[in-house]
Amino acid sequence: MERTLVIVKPDAFEKGATGKIIDRFLSEGFRIVALKLFRFTTEQAKGFYIVHKDRPFYRELVEFMTSGPVVAMVLEGEDAIRRVREIIGPTDSEEARRVAPNSIRALFGTDKGKNAVHASDSVESAQYEIPFIFSRLEMVE
Ligand code: TYD
Repeated sequence: MERTLVIVKPDAFEKGATGKIIDRFLSEGFRIVALKLFRFTTEQAKGFYIVHKDRPFYRELVEFMTSGPVVAMVLEGEDAIRRVREIIGPTDSEEARRVAPNSIRALFGTDKGKNAVHASDSVESAQYEIPFIFSRLEMVE
């Protein structure tokens, strides 16, 4: 069993897509072990995305992620990191609509910045991201 972090980003939350996104993961067989609604501060968003600090889109990404509330969750399942990445689709929602039309980013995202969801992309990133967002007390066993 593996755990991964998913965040419903401000664009998808604003659209009212949170319920559909959660339902999709449940219907794909994942178990929710943690869940919360909050709004990132600038410092928190910078820290969460620290691996991207030297990328040209870092500032825009931090601005977007702090622009409204998000819903974060930890999903558990076999091969969860890889399978969740497959279900969300490519980073760019426009590409997602071409190559993976049933993916979450194809259905609810706009472009490569406003792309509806975040999901951990490796064991190492999940190990950084899960405790960044959730304390042990906020996760069920
Ligand atoms: P990245 O880790 O490349 O994508 P993913 O979310 O699929 O793991 O980038 C992180 C986020 O940065 C991405 O979800 C949206 C944002 N971003 C941009 O705003 N512009 C870009 O050109 C890229 C590549 C990413």
